[in-house]
Amino acid sequence: MKFNPFKPNGIISPGIFTGRLDEMRAIEHGLFQAKHGNPIHFMIQGERGIGKSSLFFVTKLVANGEIETFTNEKLNFLVISVDLGAASNQMDIIRTIGRELKDTIGAKSAVKERARAFWDWATNWEILGVRYHKDGDSFDPHEALDAFVSQVASLCGTLSGEIDGILILIDEADRPGADAKLGEFCKLMTERLARKECNNVVLGLAGLPTLLGRLKESHESSPRLFTTMLLDPLLPAERIEVIDRGMKVANEKNTAATSITLEATNLLADLSEGYPHFIQQFAFSAFQYDKDNLITAEDVIGGAFSENGALSQLGDKYFNEMYHLRIASNDYRHVLNTMAAHGDQWVSRRQIIEESALAKTTVTNALNALKARQIIMSDDSRKGRGFYRLPTRSFAAWINAIRSVSERTEGQVGFAAGVPLDTTF
Ligand SMILES: Nc1ncnc2c1ncn2[C@@H]1O[C@H](COP(=O)(O)OP(=O)(O)OP(=O)(O)O)[C@@H](O)[C@H]1O
Ligand SMILES: [Mg+2]
Repeated sequence: MKFNPFKPNGIISPGIFTGRLDEMRAIEHGLFQAKHGNPIHFMIQGERGIGKSSLFFVTKLVANGEIETFTNEKLNFLVISVDLGAASNQMDIIRTIGRELKDTIGAKSAVKERARAFWDWATNWEILGVRYHKDGDSFDPHEALDAFVSQVASLCGTLSGEIDGILILIDEADRPGADAKLGEFCKLMTERLARKECNNVVLGLAGLPTLLGRLKESHESSPRLFTTMLLDPLLPAERIEVIDRGMKVANEKNTAATSITLEATNLLADLSEGYPHFIQQFAFSAFQYDKDNLITAEDVIGGAFSENGALSQLGDKYFNEMYHLRIASNDYRHVLNTMAAHGDQWVSRRQIIEESALAKTTVTNALNALKARQIIMSDDSRKGRGFYRLPTRSFAAWINAIRSVSERTEGQVGFAAGVPLDTTF
């Protein structure tokens, strides 16, 4: 058995984390500012699988001093990391953060004694939280927020000198519905903390690109609290670095060394189009497919198309529903394939007709059907209309990868891996 270093389904191992230098610098600067009483809150937006949670994980390690900053300092923040996937109202948000803060303090023996007052309050409060669920809405979230902010402010006072500040990382921040009022929570919390002269608490939010709009719905000016960052796919050199680092980790752990050809590395970098979860999945599958400890382009292709291979894994997780289940017609898929060559850019109907070589009416019908099923988007604001695009670049990257792999195998793969190939590829 060989240890496979690539990790398609989870938060990164720090040894393989690559790129994101600008974002890390901005976050470190925000933390440094907070340490000196002028916090900069930040928001990370990006498509599914682009690396938001991984960036937060590494941020946590930097903020709590497990990894040094770019300037070789060790920070000492109390870091709370929560995921708001299950929060449906503001009390849920406050309780999730309160409980995590309590647990974080509990795990840090150095601060536990001094933070006793917060600990006791949070414990009582959890009991109140249970009652809240029974009593329905008899709890006023504004009062709860006030109480929470007072406790956090006095905690910062008690621990001053002991810690640099508190970092609250909120992942999946786009998930709570409008009722949860996350924007209002952020706005009120930061303002009240400032009023209490508690200026070393930093908020970090991560979510899909809809996050900013979500916050705005909840509180018009809440987005202004944050420095915003949009995560892009990794650059070509960074993709190669991910693969090289993975190979290094594997060779440290395995008795038999594995190597990879330049062609295979480049193919992995190209197929992924820079999406970190694509790189991890294609590399993981190629590593599994390889039998002779030399990963070649054939292993990359085999790993991509084999049963339960990379393409079917990515498809199952993100796209199959859109690409296969919601579309019965090969012509419709052909239209999607044509559009995928343009990533998530707007493409005119005329251009699609030209490039696909399909009949005009076929393309028109396909575009209407795909739009009605919300598989593609149309730009109704343009003059003349007739412009369409795929919803995300990663959907385009996945479609392009299927085409590219099938071209390399000259169509021999057929219906492999649950990815029925469109004969028009
Ligand atoms: N900077 C990076 N370098 C190398 N691999 C990465 C990097 N960022 C993320 N990955 C890998 O990409 C995959 C997706 O990462 P992650 O779960 O952090 O994305 P996400 O944006 O939080 O996704 P989701 O929206 O689904 O929660 C993981 O397998 C992770 O290991
Ligand atoms: Mg995530």
